[in-house]
Amino acid sequence: MIWIVPVLVLLCFLLTHRWRYKAEPPLDRGLIPWLGHALEFGKDAAKFITRMKLKHGNIFTVRAAGRYVTLLLDPHSYDEVINDPDSLDFGRYAQVLMERIFNLRLPLHQPEKAKAMMKRHFMGASLSTLNSTMSRNLETLLKTEMPLNQRNWKEEGLFQLSYSLLFKAGYLTLFGGEQNNNSTDPSRVYEEYKKLEGVLCSLARGTLRKEEKRTAQSIQRKLWELLAPAGLTEESGSSPWLHAYRRLLKEDGVDEEMQSRAVLMQLWATQGNVGPAAFWLLGYLLTNPEALTAVKREFGQISQMASSGTPLMDKSTKTPVFDSVLEETLRLTAAPFITREVVRDKTLHMADGQDYLLRKGDRLCLFPFVSPQMDPEVHPEPQKFKFNRFLNEDGSVKKDFYKGGKKLKYYTMPWGAGTNGCVGRQFAINTIRKFVYVLLTSYDLELCDSNAQLPEKDASRYGFGMLQPQGDLLVRYTPRETR
Ligand code: HEM
Repeated sequence: MIWIVPVLVLLCFLLTHRWRYKAEPPLDRGLIPWLGHALEFGKDAAKFITRMKLKHGNIFTVRAAGRYVTLLLDPHSYDEVINDPDSLDFGRYAQVLMERIFNLRLPLHQPEKAKAMMKRHFMGASLSTLNSTMSRNLETLLKTEMPLNQRNWKEEGLFQLSYSLLFKAGYLTLFGGEQNNNSTDPSRVYEEYKKLEGVLCSLARGTLRKEEKRTAQSIQRKLWELLAPAGLTEESGSSPWLHAYRRLLKEDGVDEEMQSRAVLMQLWATQGNVGPAAFWLLGYLLTNPEALTAVKREFGQISQMASSGTPLMDKSTKTPVFDSVLEETLRLTAAPFITREVVRDKTLHMADGQDYLLRKGDRLCLFPFVSPQMDPEVHPEPQKFKFNRFLNEDGSVKKDFYKGGKKLKYYTMPWGAGTNGCVGRQFAINTIRKFVYVLLTSYDLELCDSNAQLPEKDASRYGFGMLQPQGDLLVRYTPRETR
């Protein structure tokens, strides 16, 4: 009977081992059975993928925790993925994440309906109403933090300042109605949300230990409770979008408990990236005096021309210098995976003429952070913040970037692209622009230590949207008029 063990091991190996077919991308299984490259991938995905790119080129498949993931890193070929939602499905992996992170299972999951509704509320005519509510909430919150008749400097971490203010303003605008009425205090939601965010990547990867899992579940329960009233009744004062979203869930037979989970997911989707983006942008400005002067000059001209108290909440005001600073900030700090599930075998035609076979059941990932965003051929000295990288010499917007002598359609990709690109893009841009404008025109804002540098990026967050800092950058601010 002793022969059974080696036979079973051999059988297991034969059943789970994967060979590369001739037309498939290079396959790198890693040394550890089943786990493959999962540990290195999770620790610093940018470093790992850059290493694999040097080894294999612009397309390769790696094994990570039993799954096979193909990475495509040639931006000239990205449209092949973005334009084929039939073979490369967005929804399935999104559903896996929904379940892992938010314990959310929607019986009649209709992502297309929910997205069409979101588009109606976050784009076009409705956007200007949202913009002015957001603007009002931002200004009120800032004045609460730092009344305009205040004479002292207030010291705070820039990440904490940007994230908490934008989160609370966003929460009031979309989920919670007026501050200080009966709706949930936005500061409590923020505190609990930050706790959840601390374990979010581990939840997504399914790597939490038993004890950590219990803690995560108790944070989630608190958040479900806090969010339970949001959008449920007219009195909740939430945005028309949230009411409509609740109605849609109800029509699909989703009970109130599951609805709260869905609302938490929406809180993450709408608030998780804006604060960190504003932090990096202000951080780059404060550590690059030439850039700060250029943005202040542009904002100064706008505030002189503005007839109303809240300029800059719509697209019509042109701010090419600020836009270039935002584009450059996102190039350096937006690092989402664009993930699709291969739902039927597909031949991928690369721009260089090569064809590769993608296997049904695998995942396909674009990682625009590595290419084009940090690709030295597209953006020379890619690690460096250059505030005018996206401006031509005459001050117009620069859109011409090249790779292999060919003009690129995707020279940065912080918002994704195609039908699954970011629905909230314009709202996010308007919000960040308004926040930076108010801080730089109504307040004096400076580094506490004039030689301070930006903190390092938290490498474990590559793949999850906006990066976050390890630590913070201490700043101080005071209202302008009073000094
Ligand atoms: C700096 C801020 C933001 C960044 C960098 C960002 C980035 C992204 C990216 C990269 C995707 C595409 C994911 C993929 O293709 O796999 C996405 C999707 C999405 N974003 Fe954003 N986002 C931001 C802010 C917002 C805001 C403020 C909202 C809503 C108000 C929002 C709503 C959405 C939604 C609903 C989707 C999913 C679209 C779909 O289902 O097809 N985002 N975002």
